[in-house]
Amino acid sequence: MNSREQFLDWLNDAYSMEKSLEETLERHAKDAEGDPEVHARITRHIEETRGQAETVKGCIESLGGSVSGVKSALAGMMGAVQGMANRPAGDTMVKNAITDYAAEHFEIASYRALIDTAHELGEEQIALKLTSILHQEEDMARFLEEKLPGAVQGALTAASR
Ligand SMILES: [Fe+2]
Repeated sequence: MNSREQFLDWLNDAYSMEKSLEETLERHAKDAEGDPEVHARITRHIEETRGQAETVKGCIESLGGSVSGVKSALAGMMGAVQGMANRPAGDTMVKNAITDYAAEHFEIASYRALIDTAHELGEEQIALKLTSILHQEEDMARFLEEKLPGAVQGALTAASR
């Protein structure tokens, strides 16, 4: 495998990561219907996530590759976390916030690695596109970080009733 094929492989991982995240976020948006601010922010990030998948697909195609349907490492990781969140409980918002916060940081790490790779290969247009995705993930991670204490508070209040 040459370095270009390796890059395509990693971009494909990012593509399937976005696709699996879209499904997770849709479930979490439903769970957050009682919290308009969180619901609106997740809904916005679903739109961003769809755009990111398209952007990554465009990068793959501009390098002469095509998207494959391989399951991402993130999908596996999220599956494990979701397993524990499947029981109905008053702490759904906390579990979801932890999952989403972890997922955004997984994405941040992935895009940093991809941006480095793009620079290494002299693919500056692709580096720019991936950097704009990175900023969206960082914004979402910040939002989730700010919301986590309130979610914890809400779950503790519900548990003590
Ligand atoms: Fe994303």
